[in-house]
Amino acid sequence: MNHRVISLKYRPQDFDELTGQSHVVLSLKGAIKSGRIGHAFLFAGPRGVGKTTAARIFAKSLNCIEGPTVHPCQKCQSCREIAFSRSIDVVEIDGASNRGIDEIRNLREAVQYSPLYCKYKVYIIDEVHMLTNEAFNALLKTLEEPPPSVVFVFATTNPVKIPQTILSRCERFIFKRLSVKEISARLKSIAQKEGVSITEKALHYTAVRADGSVRDGESILEQLISFVEGTITEEDVFKLIGFLSGSFYSDLLEKIVLKRDADVLVALNQGIEDGADPVEIYRGLVDYLRAALLVHSGMPGEFLDLGDEDICKVKKMSLDRHEIMRMLEVLLNAEDSIKRSMNTRIALELVFFQLLTVLEGPPAKQNGGNPGNIKEAILRVLQVQIPKLAALIQGSAVTADGAYVCISVKDDFAKSTLMSNQGVLQTILKKLLNRDVSIRVVVANEKKANNLEETIRALFDGEEVR
Ligand SMILES: Nc1ncnc2c1ncn2[C@@H]1O[C@H](COP(=O)(O)OP(=O)(O)O)[C@@H](O)[C@H]1O
Ligand SMILES: [Mg+2]
Ligand SMILES: [Zn+2]
Repeated sequence: MNHRVISLKYRPQDFDELTGQSHVVLSLKGAIKSGRIGHAFLFAGPRGVGKTTAARIFAKSLNCIEGPTVHPCQKCQSCREIAFSRSIDVVEIDGASNRGIDEIRNLREAVQYSPLYCKYKVYIIDEVHMLTNEAFNALLKTLEEPPPSVVFVFATTNPVKIPQTILSRCERFIFKRLSVKEISARLKSIAQKEGVSITEKALHYTAVRADGSVRDGESILEQLISFVEGTITEEDVFKLIGFLSGSFYSDLLEKIVLKRDADVLVALNQGIEDGADPVEIYRGLVDYLRAALLVHSGMPGEFLDLGDEDICKVKKMSLDRHEIMRMLEVLLNAEDSIKRSMNTRIALELVFFQLLTVLEGPPAKQNGGNPGNIKEAILRVLQVQIPKLAALIQGSAVTADGAYVCISVKDDFAKSTLMSNQGVLQTILKKLLNRDVSIRVVVANEKKANNLEETIRALFDGEEVR
């Protein structure tokens, strides 16, 4: 077997070999065909999705002896030199290590000279967002008056860090992360070319783990090839990347739903013993719940990073949409503390306790605007804690409206009793509604007390109590 790294060996050499970026390819081809080549192009997108690759193909297209052409010949001197990064006229610069003013000044000088062998001088600046402000200013001057036959391709994973003045002078191309399907199809064809046997599930989980990046997928495949003898299976993938299968998450969720606290913690710790990183488990569970939420909303399977088996399991699970949303909320709120914690295992265990508690009892927020519900909710608490107040509330109308909860009572006695207990009431309401509220107590006309419209009008005339 040839020992050249897979990601280099299989670097696409023609636009048509680039997977999943058809929109970008289409417009680049359009620009080449029209012959109107701009001076600055921005390739933005996550790592490992083909930005550098596309920049080189573009450079070949411009400089091929048959060019400009959308299918560079791959044989002429420029095509070959560019493919091996040896061309004098196609320069790749790493923005992260050449971020200062001096480097850009040198660049400004160099661009003044015409290309030696090629039609175009192409500067590919990778991670361009890393340049310093001074460097950007110097670069801007070049972009304002670009020498003829110079083309800049800026690649970046973080376009928001690039000054607007630079952005506005670029033709922008957005590279997208690739789907699990796209990555696993590409890995499958590479495995075939390498004569390696790998199961569909192993391809699937490798692609999931690649998280949108073809390069990451290829480097996992490369490691699998070097350490597995015979057919590569999903078990090999899990072993290599300490990654847990979908069934780990579905089992875990099942246990959470059934509130089997001890089992949840055992499963969690077993996962960690099996080599999974707690942060990894956290991420996996978030992904799984997200998928579960989408399955519940009727999203078709091909948009989910879940296998068919897992989709079936999610559908069967007795979880409703609100429960999933509450769990996701707990998880997302804990993101910082898990990622920053010195002891991620404990941080994660804590989150699992929260998940177990969040599924208990009705969701507090849902009692919000409905007057019937809120009255009943207060009553339930008061009947246990302060029965005397409960009797008063029983005979009143209670409405919640944004920051106010209005209690419309029968007489002055009721009003003064409630007002002298407003502290307690506020505490109870805060717990029920999950927010701070002010309480208004008004005396309503007895006859009209049950008429909502009249009650509200009375409330607006009433006094506010804080
Ligand atoms: N869209 C894609 N189609 C096919 N292979 C890709 C794609 N994106 C990345 N690759 C693979 O990953 C390697 C690195 O890609 P690269 O273009 O350097 O990514 P980026 O510059 O976006 O980080 C390539 O050599 C190729 O093997
Ligand atoms: Mg790159
Ligand atoms: Zn050529």
